[in-house]
Amino acid sequence: MEFAILTKLFHNPLVSLVLWSIAATSLNPAMATKRCDFPAIFNFGASNADTGGLAASFPFAGPKPPNGETFFHRPAGRFCDGRLIIDFLANSFGHNYLSPYLDSMGSNFSHGANFASAGATIRLQQGFGQSRFSPFNFGYQYSQFERFKPTTQFIRDQGGVFATLMPREEYFDEALYTFDIGQNDLTAGIFGNMTLQQVNVSTPDIISTFTSNIKNIYNLGARSFWIHNTGPIGCLPTILANFASAELDEYGCAKAYNEVAQSFNQNLKEALAQLRKELPLAAITYVDIYTPKYSLFSNPKKYGFELPHVACCGYGGKYNFSNSVGCGGTIKVNGKDIFVGSCERPSARVIWDGTHYTEAANKVVFDQISSGAFTDPPIPLNRACDRY
Ligand SMILES: *[C@@H]1O[C@H](CO)[C@@H](O)[C@H](O)[C@H]1NC(C)=O
Ligand SMILES: *[C@@H]1O[C@H](CO)[C@@H](O)[C@H](O)[C@H]1NC(C)=O
Ligand SMILES: *[C@@H]1O[C@H](CO)[C@@H](O)[C@H](O)[C@H]1NC(C)=O
Ligand SMILES: *[C@@H]1O[C@H](CO)[C@@H](O)[C@H](O)[C@H]1NC(C)=O
Repeated sequence: MEFAILTKLFHNPLVSLVLWSIAATSLNPAMATKRCDFPAIFNFGASNADTGGLAASFPFAGPKPPNGETFFHRPAGRFCDGRLIIDFLANSFGHNYLSPYLDSMGSNFSHGANFASAGATIRLQQGFGQSRFSPFNFGYQYSQFERFKPTTQFIRDQGGVFATLMPREEYFDEALYTFDIGQNDLTAGIFGNMTLQQVNVSTPDIISTFTSNIKNIYNLGARSFWIHNTGPIGCLPTILANFASAELDEYGCAKAYNEVAQSFNQNLKEALAQLRKELPLAAITYVDIYTPKYSLFSNPKKYGFELPHVACCGYGGKYNFSNSVGCGGTIKVNGKDIFVGSCERPSARVIWDGTHYTEAANKVVFDQISSGAFTDPPIPLNRACDRY
């Protein structure tokens, strides 16, 4: 795998160009190309990137304490003890944490907006009323963005206090558009009694729905795209506890489930390569979060983590996870109420609640993906406006 990347690098004329510009830069600093100063970030996705959209829409389904305890000291709409990858990303450009589009209280969109919603899928799910999935799938998130853009114009034109909470018109072209969605399309199939084979066969259709929405967003003027692939779902307590007979790999992750995630990622990577040809003005970066996330399970000590497959905030069994009660809930055991709180040291743990990562894990993953070591083309976050 690494060899393949290296070989590709050396055969890529663009890499020569990059090397040339590094050389030129060291000779003449004035020639240094400007980094991408994204004045705004527009994010689309699911719970791994939801900063409060689901909590604003369906308060009863939103995260409860101890979510948020590490950093925000309140749930803050995130299924995590603290910050998400998107929080670290916004912060790295000096921006505030993104306000959810769906939150009508206290939102400030001057440097971006977050359309992500926990439980969101790329494809429309049937009967979401009874299920664990969000109605705000990727298509609806796009249509919210389609409304958002002209509405900000209208509000700016009115002036006054609300105008100051809107992004400037030119920010829509200059912004970074970020995406983290797809995991729930896989788990919707897995928990919806599809065979893994059937879920795997459905991935090309999931990806084509994804890329058609990317095209729609491009057609509204977006140019810089930062697109996460999907993580190793077979390492999550929710899969490990529910499919206890699944064959495990050498690091204790359910092999077949991870293979489906890898197949999704391969499909996505190829679709984005095709999209670069179709959308010549776009800078499209495929971001491999699978590999850095997987390394948290294969080599937890390297990052100061322990018990990587055990939820910090959960209940019962080998993985500290139960379908009957979630993080922040209460369960009656022998007539006694037990509160599902946090483990002692979330900062030394990978998994927060069985499905989502801890702030500490999110930070490790963010540091790795922002360096450019896991992106295609191999560019760091602050160059994600460069076209290849
Ligand atoms: C909105 O956010 C911007 C950028 O962080 C900040 O300068 C501005 O004061 C905020 N507006 C309000 C009303 O808080
Ligand atoms: C999956 O099958 C189980 C057992 O046959 C059933 O109880 C459950 O309701 C099914 N789930 C869905 C989403 O169809
Ligand atoms: C999934 O489907 C792809 C083709 O899209 C195939 O190459 C791969 O072997 C399949 N993987 C699994 C785990 O079924
Ligand atoms: C499992 O979750 C409980 C909260 O219900 C927590 O107190 C405990 O520390 C967790 N166990 C482990 C091993 O993290």
